[in-house]
Amino acid sequence: MQKTPDKEWDQIWVGANIATMAAGAGPYGSIENAALAVKGERIAWIGPAEEGRSVAAAQNLPVQDARGLWMTPGLIDCHTHLVYGGNRVEEFEKRLCGVSYEAIARAGGGIQSTVQATRTASREQLHASAAVRAKRLMSEGVTTIEVKSGYGLELAAERRMLEVARDLAAELPVSVKKTFLGLHALPREFAADRQDFVAQVSGPWLESLAAAGLVDAVDAFCENIAFSLPETERLLQAAAQLGLPAHVHAGQLTDMGAAELAAKWGALSADHLEYLSAAGAHSLAAAGTVAVLLPAAYFTLRQTTPPPVGLLREAGAALAIATDCNPGSSPCTSILLALNMACTLFGLTPEEALSGVTRQAARALGALDDIGTLEVGKRADVAFWRIERPAELCYGMGANPCVDVLYRGALRAH
Ligand code: NIG
Ligand code: FE
Repeated sequence: MQKTPDKEWDQIWVGANIATMAAGAGPYGSIENAALAVKGERIAWIGPAEEGRSVAAAQNLPVQDARGLWMTPGLIDCHTHLVYGGNRVEEFEKRLCGVSYEAIARAGGGIQSTVQATRTASREQLHASAAVRAKRLMSEGVTTIEVKSGYGLELAAERRMLEVARDLAAELPVSVKKTFLGLHALPREFAADRQDFVAQVSGPWLESLAAAGLVDAVDAFCENIAFSLPETERLLQAAAQLGLPAHVHAGQLTDMGAAELAAKWGALSADHLEYLSAAGAHSLAAAGTVAVLLPAAYFTLRQTTPPPVGLLREAGAALAIATDCNPGSSPCTSILLALNMACTLFGLTPEEALSGVTRQAARALGALDDIGTLEVGKRADVAFWRIERPAELCYGMGANPCVDVLYRGALRAH
């Protein structure tokens, strides 16, 4: 907290309770009856409401009365597949008649069916449907969304997905991190030549998409129904050579050692992790690779083995939470529901869960310097909530107590 207020603020909110979510600042980093001042896109000052009021009066600043609302950092959904064509409701029906996700995938459904729908959708269709989903997330205080490709699986279609992701951020008041999920499934045209596909993705495709500024990070689905450890490693190595960070879909259905591989390459995150050993948890903690838990996918697939949260805690790994919004395993556009599920299904405390969509999610995107906590100098991305205490964000199901959102210092139309 800055003691002597800088006199150059643009505006100030007073009378808020602020869950700064700053590390080591007590539960939720809470400051009650506080004030937050903004200068341009950044947080300029946080302090007691009275001090804020008197500085504002002396400076003749616009003062907004926060009416006892809670402020949190704008929420961050650090794992989504927001851009896709069609939907997978038929597959949902099949699973409820007893066919497994793996069996559907092996029979050429699953991800492959979304690949077909995504390749044939127009750019406008992809954009419009993704914008609807982005707005739903935004209505719950989300200010940053990670968006993966991976339903194109041919260069032009992957590029189009990433361009749509980029264009969403130009159209809507939200930040987008674009992830090239080149190794999501093996497209049919490469069925006879896996190694050639992996080589294309890790070589010319990655280079061309990165050169176009469309790749903030790479990702691979490392799983026995998807890509092996050596195949995944090839992409991680190529990304490292280009100086690009990585995420890995790891341990969703089996423990193949994908978390260890992600840690070995210093990936930003390893995601899913229902199947993870103690050694895997330790390797994530040692590498500073964030464990991203995706409870809505676990719920949708009616999985029964939750991620080993106790092991991750003991190891000291950072835990983040995301929706995994996608048409197959997680048709979920509610980050608040993901928070609730992280607590009820995985046993996270509400504070861990809320850290998981703020500070730790920022870390999982390599963006903690800029977003994820309410601290002086960070981007003024703030969600305002009509709640009595922060845990209420994890408690409700179907409630949306988000009242307002400040995005880059400006109030977002609600
Ligand atoms: O994160 N696991 C791989 N990818 C997605 C599912 C994609 C799909 O089923 O379409 C996930 O769960
Ligand atoms: Fe995913």
